[in-house]
Amino acid sequence: MSLNNGDILIHSFQPNDIPQCLNITRGVYAKYCPEDGYVEKVFATDMADIEKNYLNIKGGHWWVARTMVDNTVVGQVGIQPLSVGNQKCYQAELANPHYLHIHPDQICELRRMAVIPAYQKQRVGFKLLHTLIEFAQSNDYKAIHLTTLGTMTSACKFYARCGFTKGKVEQYVVAESKNGDTKVKYLKSTVFEHSSSLTEDDVRLYSLPISESKRLYVQHYWMLL
Ligand SMILES: CC(C)(COP(=O)(O)OP(=O)(O)OC[C@H]1O[C@@H](n2cnc3c(N)ncnc32)[C@H](O)[C@@H]1OP(=O)(O)O)[C@@H](O)C(=O)NCCC(=O)NCCS
Repeated sequence: MSLNNGDILIHSFQPNDIPQCLNITRGVYAKYCPEDGYVEKVFATDMADIEKNYLNIKGGHWWVARTMVDNTVVGQVGIQPLSVGNQKCYQAELANPHYLHIHPDQICELRRMAVIPAYQKQRVGFKLLHTLIEFAQSNDYKAIHLTTLGTMTSACKFYARCGFTKGKVEQYVVAESKNGDTKVKYLKSTVFEHSSSLTEDDVRLYSLPISESKRLYVQHYWMLL
């Protein structure tokens, strides 16, 4: 679907946007990490109540991208303080040298960024990100942190193009299924402080579908504001 100038409106989440936001998220995880139960976890946690978990917290928000052509939601992004979004990461990032001059509460997390495939590569993601950066700056955040997967190649290219720096990579290994359990489970294996420290084998496996690589690579990105 090709867009013209002015076809996309970015606005704050409204309660009746929820079915479309859930659909967008379902589509992303069905493609990138099927059968591991992650989407169910997302729907039971932060996306169970977007108003409570994003709009009603200090320094949090959620936007949707709406096409004026047929009034549907075609993209979304959320922001939370890192201490809320990813507490484990928050603790770990306190020691991160590129955040040393920043109070940890001035780091936010970009979450659930997605644009539906038919509208990708037409600057919808960029408009969502631009809105998020303006919000982050006016809320006195000094850095944006996010995690994505090595298999999410469009996202990796997008974040690099938009000025994010690659941080550490967490490697998880797919666990053997037990007692006929069909749900994919991961075991944390190695943390590479930077993607340049990945082994040759990891570089090869990094962006392959999880069903082939039997690995999950969580790629961290950050940007100072
Ligand atoms: C990542 C994503 C949100 C980007 O949204 P988008 O609307 O397609 O991105 P934009 O059109 O705004 O692109 C902005 C810039 O990134 C670059 N970019 C975006 N997708 C790209 C791709 N697949 N390959 C190369 N460059 C890409 C564009 O070239 C553009 O720069 P330019 O216009 O100056 O050349 C979208 O691809 C997506 O939803 N992917 C699947 C879900 C996902 O992986 N989400 C991330 C979860 S962390």
